[in-house]
Amino acid sequence: MGTDRFPAVVASGAGPASTVTLTDADLPDGDVTVDVAYSSLNYKDGLAVTGRARIARTFPMVCGIDLAGTVRSSAADRWRPGDEVVVTGWGLSETHPGGYTQRERLESGWLLPPPPGLDLRRAMAVGTAGLTAMLCVLALEGAGLRPDPGEEVLVTGAAGGVGSIAVALLSALGHRVVASTGRAELEPYLRDLGAGRVVDRAELAVAPERPLGPERYAGAVDTVGGTTLASVIGQVRYRGAVAACGLAGGSELATSVLPFILRNVALLGVDSVRCPNALRTVAWSRVASDLPAAVLDRVTEVRPMSDIHALAQEILAGSVRGRVVVDPHA
Ligand SMILES: NC(=O)c1ccc[n+]([C@@H]2O[C@H](COP(=O)([O-])OP(=O)(O)OC[C@H]3O[C@@H](n4cnc5c(N)ncnc54)[C@H](OP(=O)(O)O)[C@@H]3O)[C@@H](O)[C@H]2O)c1
Repeated sequence: MGTDRFPAVVASGAGPASTVTLTDADLPDGDVTVDVAYSSLNYKDGLAVTGRARIARTFPMVCGIDLAGTVRSSAADRWRPGDEVVVTGWGLSETHPGGYTQRERLESGWLLPPPPGLDLRRAMAVGTAGLTAMLCVLALEGAGLRPDPGEEVLVTGAAGGVGSIAVALLSALGHRVVASTGRAELEPYLRDLGAGRVVDRAELAVAPERPLGPERYAGAVDTVGGTTLASVIGQVRYRGAVAACGLAGGSELATSVLPFILRNVALLGVDSVRCPNALRTVAWSRVASDLPAAVLDRVTEVRPMSDIHALAQEILAGSVRGRVVVDPHA
C-alpha cells in the first residue's frame, strides 16, 4: 500500500473490528506522528477486536493497546523525526486510536525511548504484558520479596503473555518459581523459562474452604483474578505479598480479611495503563537488564496484522502461548 493510505484494524461499534484503509486525515489530535513498526497482542486486544467486551469509549477506534515505531514528524521539542519510541496504555484503543495501524498520532508525553538493548520488535515482545509483569515484580520487591532458596513464588496464568514474562523474570532474578497453568502440555515450555515446579490451575480454581490455607508462597503474581486470586491470597505466607494485575478467570474477589490481619499479607494492585512515566522508565530498564534476550525471543512469535481476528479469538480462548508481536506491514 502507498505511503498515504494504510491499513488499520478499527472497531466501529458493537461486533468485531474490521480492517479499513486510513489516510493522514483520519489521524487523531496529537503532537507526534509515528510510523508504527510493531504492535502486540494482549488480552484486552482480544476483547476489543472480537467485540466481546466494550473497550473503546468512542467509535471509530483503531485497536491495539501498544505500539513501537519511529517518529515521522513532531511538534514537541523532546522528539525528532527518526527517534525510536514505545507507547503502552494511556488509553490506546480505549479513548485514543491505538497500534493496529501503520501510522498513528499521539501525545508526546506518552512516548518513551525503548531501553538500550531492546529493538522495536523486542520492545513489543515485551509490550504491555511484559511491562505489567515487570511492574508486578517491582511491586513484590517493594513489599520486601527477595530471592531465597527456601521459598517459592507463584505465577498464575503462567503460559499467557504476562505470566510467561513473569516466570522468566522471576527465575532470572533467582527466585524459585512455581507456574500455575491449565495447559499441562506446556510444562516443558514453562520449565524452559525457569519454572521449578508446575501446578494445575484447577487446584486454585475451587473456592477455598477456609480463608487461611497452607503458607506455601513468599509471593505471587496473579493474572487470573476471581477464585484463583482468593485461593492464592490464602496460600501466601506470613508477611508475603500478591501482585494482582489480571482478570482472565474473573473480576470478582471473594475473600476474607483474615490473610491481611492475621498473616500481614499484602495485596498489591498493578495498573500499566496510567502508570507514571518515572515508574515505566524503571520498569523498561529493568526488563532490558533482567530478562535475557534469548528467553524473550523464545516466548515470542511475530504474526501479520492480517491474522488479528484469529489471534483475538485465540487469546480469549486462553490458547495463545507467551507473546505475539503484531506486524502491521504484513
Ligand atoms: N493491570 C494491567 O495493567 C494489565 C496489563 C496487561 C494485562 N492485564 C490483564 O492480565 C491478564 C493476562 O493478560 P495477558 O495479555 O497475559 O493474557 P493471556 O496471554 O491470555 O494470558 C492469560 C492466561 O490466563 C490463563 N487463563 C485464561 N483463562 C483462564 C480461566 N478461565 N481460568 C484460569 N486461568 C485462565 C491462561 O494461562 P494458562 O494457559 O497457563 O492456564 C492464559 O494464558 C488479563 O486479564 C489482562 O486483562 C492487566
